[in-house]
Amino acid sequence: MRADVVEKLQAHYEKVADLHMRDLFEGDENRFTEFSCSLGDILLDYSKNRVTSETIALLLELAEESGVYEKRAEMFSGRRINSTEGRAVLHTALRNRSGRPVEVEGQAGDVMDGVDRVLAQMGTFCDAVHSGERRGYTDAEFTDIVSIGIGGSALGPLMVTEALKPYARAGLRIHFVSNVDATDIVETLKELDAESTLFVVVSKTFTTEETLANALSARAWFLERVGDVEAVEKHFVAVSVNEDAVTEFGIDAGNMFEFWDWVGGRYSIWGAVGLPIALYVGMDNFESLLAGAHDMDLHFQQAEPGENIPLLLGLLGVWYNNFFGMETHAVLPYDQYLRFLPDYLQQLDMESCGKSVTLAGEPVDGATGMIIWGGPGTDGQHAYFQLLHQGTRIVPADFIAAAESQNPLGEHHLKLLANFFAQTEALMLGKTREEAREELLVEVERGRLASQDVADLVGHKEFPGNRPSNSIFVRRLDPRTLGALLAMYEHKVFVQGCIWGINPYDQWGVELGKSLASRVFEELRDESTINSHDSSTNALVNHYKKLRRELD
Ligand code: F6P
Repeated sequence: MRADVVEKLQAHYEKVADLHMRDLFEGDENRFTEFSCSLGDILLDYSKNRVTSETIALLLELAEESGVYEKRAEMFSGRRINSTEGRAVLHTALRNRSGRPVEVEGQAGDVMDGVDRVLAQMGTFCDAVHSGERRGYTDAEFTDIVSIGIGGSALGPLMVTEALKPYARAGLRIHFVSNVDATDIVETLKELDAESTLFVVVSKTFTTEETLANALSARAWFLERVGDVEAVEKHFVAVSVNEDAVTEFGIDAGNMFEFWDWVGGRYSIWGAVGLPIALYVGMDNFESLLAGAHDMDLHFQQAEPGENIPLLLGLLGVWYNNFFGMETHAVLPYDQYLRFLPDYLQQLDMESCGKSVTLAGEPVDGATGMIIWGGPGTDGQHAYFQLLHQGTRIVPADFIAAAESQNPLGEHHLKLLANFFAQTEALMLGKTREEAREELLVEVERGRLASQDVADLVGHKEFPGNRPSNSIFVRRLDPRTLGALLAMYEHKVFVQGCIWGINPYDQWGVELGKSLASRVFEELRDESTINSHDSSTNALVNHYKKLRRELD
């Protein structure tokens, strides 16, 4: 981070760290107006953060000094900003609805030709499945789609199909298999009929162990029931950048949906990786998702810094991470359809920002990616919110809700929203010792509490408050709004990556575990005692081998 601005921010932090938001709100009736902004139907209220006007001004200076705006232009224009892999970062091209040509640095030709071609291929395929023109080997229509993939090739489609369930095409069910634990595929296939099941194998590299193991098991399950290898091509399609590996696996290149190395796995739902989404909700809704993301791309590029939603979210993340030393960030959608959003954002943010080396190969100066976690409200309120309200750690949180319920039923939605509004207020306001004492004294007056218990209880009833949150409030969780929300988080990650000087688009950190696992896998295949590892790993593996012998 730029030392001069960091010094200014540090000095400012020392001045404001102890300010209580309760006082900031009391002292400024325009606080909401100053610290909120919107894009279409998306409202971001960031007034319940531990910031003043000066904080935001300094954070915006940090953005400028860190070159966020230049890097943003480089990203959108196809420069190879993923320098450790020598790749451009152009997931925004997959949803470029402007007609603007896009080129990868050093490579002639408009990538939009390929993007449009694959979108058209997806549209044709979806239409054929939906109309019944494309059927299974016995001429049965498809009723079930099994998407096989992991990480960036699974979490996005899983999250979006759940979020857009109200838009699902009638008569189609979708299933996701990711874990190499056979339970995942076995339990999924148990309820399916081979005749009417379509498998979509999604893997950017088409070398990922888990995905290939699951795809092979799915193929074996299918062939056991069908017995005819020729039938495979009607039931298996692939999404990948690696045509050779796809054909080697036995899926015809004509049944492959392509994407490109300039799309990172966790940024890939906008193209062929979104095929399970398009099959489930229809190509028109998938295109609305793209349009929403494109809206956010334009906003990110064009909105004034002080009104720029992803920029502000990224800067707030840096503020809490690097100045307050907060370590985790919660994503709390008050919408059951968004229940997989925290998992999706966990990969997006932690695989992108979990780096400790700068682009120049130097150790980073200070903390980088926060731990992202969360779950849907109101469930979390009855589980981990205790820690959010009264624990010793402070957890900044994004609360997300929609004004319109997709399932209006009695007063459920009012109750849900009442909690959405109340929780951020409670986290911000807290309850002073004096307020807690007064409430206890009322109980004493009513004869429900002995007066000598007041002193013992008062500390437990106090809430420190001053706990930051963003409220992201949308009109309706429709495809376009969802697309914009997801792009908002992608750009938030980009902003943080720029400020920390890291590469948010590689993931070398997942390699070591993978290579050690393949070594151990070979060692597990026979009965010999091993001693090639540390004493703990040797003992665990040998213990397993002993148990396995006993079980045989
Ligand atoms: O192991 C991490 C990872 O490489 C992710 O970045 C990626 O999204 C996932 O595995 C799946 O990779 P692929 O799409 O190549 O199967």
